Amino acid sequence: MNTRIRTMLVADIPAVVALADRLVGDGYYSRASVTEMLARSTSGDVVCSHVAELLSQPPRLVGFRFSLPPGAWQHGRGQKISPELWPAPLADSGYFQTAFVDDAVRRQGLGSRMATAALDSLRRLGARGVVTHCWKESPGNSSFRYLSRLGFRPIVEIDNYWIDVDYTCVRDGYPCLCTAVEMYLSLGDVPTSAGPADTPDG
Ligand SMILES: CC(C)(COP(=O)(O)OP(=O)(O)OC[C@H]1O[C@@H](n2cnc3c(N)ncnc32)[C@H](O)[C@@H]1OP(=O)(O)O)[C@@H](O)C(=O)NCCC(=O)NCCS
Repeated sequence: MNTRIRTMLVADIPAVVALADRLVGDGYYSRASVTEMLARSTSGDVVCSHVAELLSQPPRLVGFRFSLPPGAWQHGRGQKISPELWPAPLADSGYFQTAFVDDAVRRQGLGSRMATAALDSLRRLGARGVVTHCWKESPGNSSFRYLSRLGFRPIVEIDNYWIDVDYTCVRDGYPCLCTAVEMYLSLGDVPTSAGPADTPDG
């Protein structure tokens, strides 16, 4: 499988929304909210959000990850956070918002490669750590396993974390009753990656 991880571009927005509608649930992201997320995830020439694409003819977008640098976020899609339990303050922490990979190409390393590229970008923008809200009910517990494998550690569980988000969940319908596990990754514990953000097949 010939694939590439690269930073997200404005031209990717329609394909990211279409993928999110199918994989996350209808309405979770709109063109306007993806445009805003991409702007917030960018500082100077550093872009913290990434896509995975199959290098078919034409290339096809099969995954995305939004990440926000310190100072560009206050909470995730849900409102609850527990900064008093984190090893570094909110002002020094980045945020991993949403990551999804097309079911057909999961477990082939694309999610990990996007995360590694994002961690490099967040580190360049001064993050000492990264917060995320893991989707506890994700298929095969993939979210928790994926984040744990990256070094994230669970902090606290939040019931009905996404209940106020106006979208139709692929699992529950409307409203979403899924649980979040707030997790934290201290970047001091993670070695820097050797490669540039735009990585070919891994
Ligand atoms: C979580 C997700 C983004 C990971 O992307 P991916 O390309 O499948 O991940 P990778 O191939 O890099 O695998 C990384 C680890 O994730 C875990 N994982 C991924 N898919 C899994 C599955 N179906 N079942 C169990 N664990 C899984 C494994 O621990 C895996 O490491 P391993 O293969 O060495 O055991 C993807 O599986 C996905 O979209 N899942 C559903 C949506 C979701 O939960 N998103 C929230 C992420 S916070």
